[in-house]
Amino acid sequence: MRNLLVTGGAGFIGSNFVHYVVENTDLHVTVLDKLTYAASREAIESLPSERVSLVVGDIADAAVVDPLVASHDAVVHYAAESHNDNSLNDPSPFVQTNIIGTFTLLEAVRRHGVRFHHISTDEVYGDLELDDPQRFTESTPYNPSSPYSSTKAGSDLLVRAWVRSFGVEATISNCSNNYGPWQHIEKFIPRQITNLIDGVRPKLYGAGLNVRDWIHADDHSSAVMTILEKGAIGETYLIGADGEVNNLDTVKLILRLMGHDENDFEHVTDRAGHDLRYAIDSTKLRTELGWTPRFQDFESGMSDTIRWYRENEAWWRPKKAAIEAQYAAQGQ
Ligand code: NAD
Ligand code: DAU
Repeated sequence: MRNLLVTGGAGFIGSNFVHYVVENTDLHVTVLDKLTYAASREAIESLPSERVSLVVGDIADAAVVDPLVASHDAVVHYAAESHNDNSLNDPSPFVQTNIIGTFTLLEAVRRHGVRFHHISTDEVYGDLELDDPQRFTESTPYNPSSPYSSTKAGSDLLVRAWVRSFGVEATISNCSNNYGPWQHIEKFIPRQITNLIDGVRPKLYGAGLNVRDWIHADDHSSAVMTILEKGAIGETYLIGADGEVNNLDTVKLILRLMGHDENDFEHVTDRAGHDLRYAIDSTKLRTELGWTPRFQDFESGMSDTIRWYRENEAWWRPKKAAIEAQYAAQGQ
């Protein structure tokens, strides 16, 4: 394997993966990214041009995808519409990119016999009760709640069918909530950090008892690289770092680390169909492929993330007013 095609490599997790590949391997990376509102050219432009190139294009455009896939040894597929709240306002780009885009890539890897790794989410499994002793495993039935998670579930099922029916050499990973640098400020953690920098109180949906299972984006990257190198074709691996925290405690942590009173937040309108709890059991990945997460101290990871947003205001500042206006229109 010498040449990787990384779709969505200018987004939050994809760009962290591209950095990881450059720092930890000698592979060449081609990023295929449509540069939607969620992308950041800046996130990858500092990388050496002999290691990383960017093709601006749509994964649902077969004329772009086919020759690119043909000239690479493996595809790592991150590109997606990724934000639940946006999917509630307008599901259409989610169906187009997450389902038709994945279909277009699968047809290209089938035609050219190229290895495929599909990046997915724990949200395909729906949610858990707060006191449920079980966590999600690779055999948990699919039960997605939102337009976003249902299109991700659909894309996973396409991958499974292309493996079984056409012998495509694919693996799938379903990861929990990521945090780290370059995450769009529409998302929970960066939204609250940048609100506090602006002197605005953090906004908690509903009572804030919803639990998310946080993992640092670098740990997601090391897990994906492990699966690409050692994963068994046709298999699904769950990625998680035992990071369950409810949103109320996360907001309190951010407030404390940024020097504010822990109770200085406000409750806003809850998300429709809001999943209660996600929790990943990553035993299969750890025991079969020997992966372990490195960032298990959420407080220190959060401190680094707060510092990153303080130091990179020039990147997020131009997006902030429009994002907050959109949330305000929804009472959020
Ligand atoms: P993101 O929204 O930050 O980035 C998505 C990237 O995909 C952007 O660069 C965007 O321009 C690109 N893109 C969108 N539509 C495209 C199209 N039609 N053609 C080409 N490029 C297109 O998303 P993210 O949070 O980095 O998530 C990346 C992947 O990881 C997604 O597949 C998501 O489902 C999955 N995932 C995310 C999380 C999380 O916590 N954010 C957790 C588990 C899995
Ligand atoms: O679990 C993996 C998923 O994590 C990924 O598949 C998605 O792409 C990613 O966006 C993320 O989905 P969530 O919906 O969990 O993330 P989000 O950052 O939007 O919200 C995290 C939690 O915080 C959720 O319970 C909603 C809540 N929330 C969110 C915002 C934006 C708030 O309480 N206040 C907010 O302002």
